[in-house]
Amino acid sequence: MVNSFLIIGGYSHIARAIIDELVLTKQAEQIVAVSRGSRPADLNNIHWYQSDYSESSIAALISQFRDEGRHFSLVIICHGVLHDDTVQPEKRLEDLNADSLRHVFQINAITPLLWLKHLVPLLRQSALCKVAVFSARVGSIGDNHLGGWYSYRASKAALNMLLKSAAIEYARRAPNVKILAFHPGTTDTPLSRPFSKQVPEHKLFQPAFMVKQLLQILERLEPDGELSFLDWQGQRIDW
Ligand SMILES: NC(=O)c1ccc[n+]([C@@H]2O[C@H](COP(=O)([O-])OP(=O)(O)OC[C@H]3O[C@@H](n4cnc5c(N)ncnc54)[C@H](OP(=O)(O)O)[C@@H]3O)[C@@H](O)[C@H]2O)c1
Repeated sequence: MVNSFLIIGGYSHIARAIIDELVLTKQAEQIVAVSRGSRPADLNNIHWYQSDYSESSIAALISQFRDEGRHFSLVIICHGVLHDDTVQPEKRLEDLNADSLRHVFQINAITPLLWLKHLVPLLRQSALCKVAVFSARVGSIGDNHLGGWYSYRASKAALNMLLKSAAIEYARRAPNVKILAFHPGTTDTPLSRPFSKQVPEHKLFQPAFMVKQLLQILERLEPDGELSFLDWQGQRIDW
């Protein structure tokens, strides 16, 4: 059995910082990344798999990991979209449409849960496994004082609810697993860049800093049957 670390959504700038940190501190042989994109030229020492994130592709990859004798002590799921070629965060109700809502929900809420669905049999074999899924503070219903960003906010709130139910089920079926919904703070990546001008410099994090915070927080967490919703300081966020 090979103890491995699984990073899903490897082209995310945050994922890349996670991979770089793990390469420095762990054996590259243990690092497994999944992305729609092909392996970056400078990452030929880690295991890289491509996926279109369809459910059949996710199931096939998990089955391949099982055949390779991998078990995972760390899984980090990075999928997330705020804007892309087809969607922009909505400022008002008139900006909404059903197609963009569906697109954002698929990436931010549905795909992460498909991973958790298919990972159950594999993760229950590990002695201990920490799973971090990138959520966002704007997915907090209690913290929503500004409105707007309908699809992003709602998809992250849905992600949190899906993770909450998954954490309850994992507590029964894989009690060795701890699940964290994580808010990284505003981190300098293509996702935040169009909106980061309003963010004071000391509140705009470089991915490498935020990743160190995440890994320290994960180190402290133990399986307790609960979903934690924490920010980059390890502070609880209102649901
Ligand atoms: N940056 C911030 O300030 C900030 C703040 C709060 C929360 N977050 C969250 O942190 C996470 C990482 O964000 P980032 O800033 O690193 O963004 P990013 O660089 O834009 O990364 C985007 C991620 O989403 C995945 N993705 C994009 N389109 C997809 C699709 N059609 N289907 C499935 N996956 C798709 C990408 O996977 P591939 O590898 O397959 O391309 C990649 O993992 C996201 O969940 C985001 O919501 C970020």
